[in-house]
Amino acid sequence: MRRAHPVRSPAKVQKTDMAQIFHRSTNFISRFSVFSALFLIGFALLAVLAVARSPYLTRQNISREQPVQFSHKHHVADDGIDCRYCHTGVETSAVAGIPPTKTCMNCHSVLFNNVGYLEPVRESYRTDKSIEWVKVHRLADFVYFNHSIHVNKGVGCTTCHGQVEQLVSSAVVRILRSTANFLPSSS
Ligand code: HEC
Ligand code: HEC
Ligand code: HEC
Repeated sequence: MRRAHPVRSPAKVQKTDMAQIFHRSTNFISRFSVFSALFLIGFALLAVLAVARSPYLTRQNISREQPVQFSHKHHVADDGIDCRYCHTGVETSAVAGIPPTKTCMNCHSVLFNNVGYLEPVRESYRTDKSIEWVKVHRLADFVYFNHSIHVNKGVGCTTCHGQVEQLVSSAVVRILRSTANFLPSSS
């Protein structure tokens, strides 16, 4: 039977009751908070990774104080000495190696053989005690890295180490980049 006066249909009543407990916007709010929580977690993870790789923690571009103020720029760019003259292991072994004092003395027994700043080199030669160079690059202990395989496949020192020949003092230039940067551009 029809009533003259329109009232709410039962369905509509129910809907209004539900709406009193959960407002329509709740749907949006719940979705929004789930997605933003996921987003925040992802963002926090990225932030941690970014900090771990930042120049601040890797100490990129910070010069190390060395016992002798050896300059790659003077020896490589100005004097034209090949990297392999000093880093002899680079083509044949995992490590490039740091030159022994004898390598320096090949030249410095006659060149600048009485200047003060080379005294630590001469002393090392006389006493047969190695110069204690501060290690600049240090990969995590679980990483196995081999120079010879990279160098023999044509990856140049600069690709990983940057413009070492422009370094006046020792600093990590760039080494921990994505492996894509290490691949030769054409093959
Ligand atoms: C005359 C010798 C000599 C030549 C030539 C030379 N180096 Fe070096 N290199 C050294 C010495 C000594 C050290 C250690 C002191 C220092 O870190 O500056 C060193 C350190 C380095 C380091 C940092 C090592 C570490 O502790 O992690 C890199 C990388 C490097 N050399 C790359 C090169 C490259 C690339 C070339 C060629 C462009 C080159 N070197 C040419 C003597 C040389
Ligand atoms: C092939 C010859 C040669 C060898 C090997 C060599 N030097 Fe030199 N070194 C030079 C010459 C040339 C200069 C002058 C550079 C200039 O003023 O351009 C120089 C300059 C220097 C200076 C003065 C500061 C500077 O860089 O100008 C230092 C310190 C030095 N050498 C340290 C070393 C050490 C340490 C080694 C061994 C790891 C070494 N050299 C190996 C030729 C050599
Ligand atoms: C594929 C990237 C790559 C190339 C190419 C490369 N290096 Fe390295 N180099 C590294 C890494 C990574 C380290 C750090 C190794 C460690 O900490 O164990 C390193 C370390 C060094 C060191 C420190 C001493 C040692 O042996 O660990 C020297 C010196 C060096 N490199 C010289 C060179 C020279 C010279 C060349 C070119 C002939 C060269 N590198 C090419 C990645 C590279």
